[in-house]
Amino acid sequence: MIVLGIETSCDETGVALYDTRRGLLAHALYSQVKLHAEYGGVVPELASRDHVRRLLPLVRGILAESGLGVGDLDGVAYTAGPGLVGALLVGAGVARALAWALQVPAIGVHHMEGHLLAPLLEDTGSEPPLEPPFVALLVSGGHTQLVAVDAIGDYRLLGETLDDAAGEAFDKTAKLMGLPYPGGPVLAKLAGEGRAGAFRFSRPMTDRPGLDFSFSGLKTQVLLAWQKSDQTDQTRADIARAFEEAVVDTLVIKCERALQQSGHRRLIVAGGVGANRRLRSELVERGARIGARVYFPRPEFCTDNGAMIAFAGALRLQAGLSEPDEVRVQPRWDM
Ligand code: KG4
Ligand code: ZN
Repeated sequence: MIVLGIETSCDETGVALYDTRRGLLAHALYSQVKLHAEYGGVVPELASRDHVRRLLPLVRGILAESGLGVGDLDGVAYTAGPGLVGALLVGAGVARALAWALQVPAIGVHHMEGHLLAPLLEDTGSEPPLEPPFVALLVSGGHTQLVAVDAIGDYRLLGETLDDAAGEAFDKTAKLMGLPYPGGPVLAKLAGEGRAGAFRFSRPMTDRPGLDFSFSGLKTQVLLAWQKSDQTDQTRADIARAFEEAVVDTLVIKCERALQQSGHRRLIVAGGVGANRRLRSELVERGARIGARVYFPRPEFCTDNGAMIAFAGALRLQAGLSEPDEVRVQPRWDM
């Protein structure tokens, strides 16, 4: 079964072709980062319009690259939510129209389920290969959740952020120190130039039991430290480092707790912040210490992409799940 996946929930247009026999055939991504940069954040209407412009050329591109035509498609999967309503409607409209014209099924996918299944998308050669049950740490610009995955489709929320998501905290912290949008990766890069121990911020909510997070206070700590400082480039890097350490440490502590609490021995990490190098190395190290194995998708499949949607959709279509022929999206949607 060959499934076309379409992701348009925010500011990246992602498409991919997934074959249930041969795996990922092709994928392509167009990032709108430059379009939104001058506004310091995503402008929803501009995002929708750009998805309209980019989507079909991208689909044509991956079909050509794979030597396939639209007639070879057995199904179409698209992100149905959560996300920006206008942006979601572009992907849903194109997916439904294409599927209807080809007389193949279309299926709406939950964006976070896409992220969650991304580590299963490719055989990374890890031994033992990844399969449920496992704990998932989902860390993106909109979500920070710990989920117990007992089977594919069987998800139990263990804990989540009470305010800002981890990626959002990275973005907002970068912005308040004058770094350009999108701030997360820029701040992470700068942290590499920071000196150890120059600043220290708290590890929120690690001093009490439970698996919830809160990152908004960290942002305030950074703001105060930055305002009181000499505001030089070195200080900015020092603060970036201390901030990254605080977020990573907090995530690592809660992951360890989630593994102990659930009894699972495998942890997967997905979502944009999963591309963070300090988070990756610290989790692997902590996992090794407590006898748990940590899995990540490759960094380009941590951030938004069409491959994870094609894969999640293919699993659903293969399981015989179907939906009515209607263009429906859910901007807010619990997994
Ligand atoms: O999953 P994603 O691409 O989009 C959402 O669904 O939100 O995640 C984007 C988020 C942004 O907040 C971005 O700043 C953050 O992931 N991010 C990072 C890194 N790369 C992306 N945060 C920290 N370190 C990184 N290397
Ligand atoms: Zn995402």
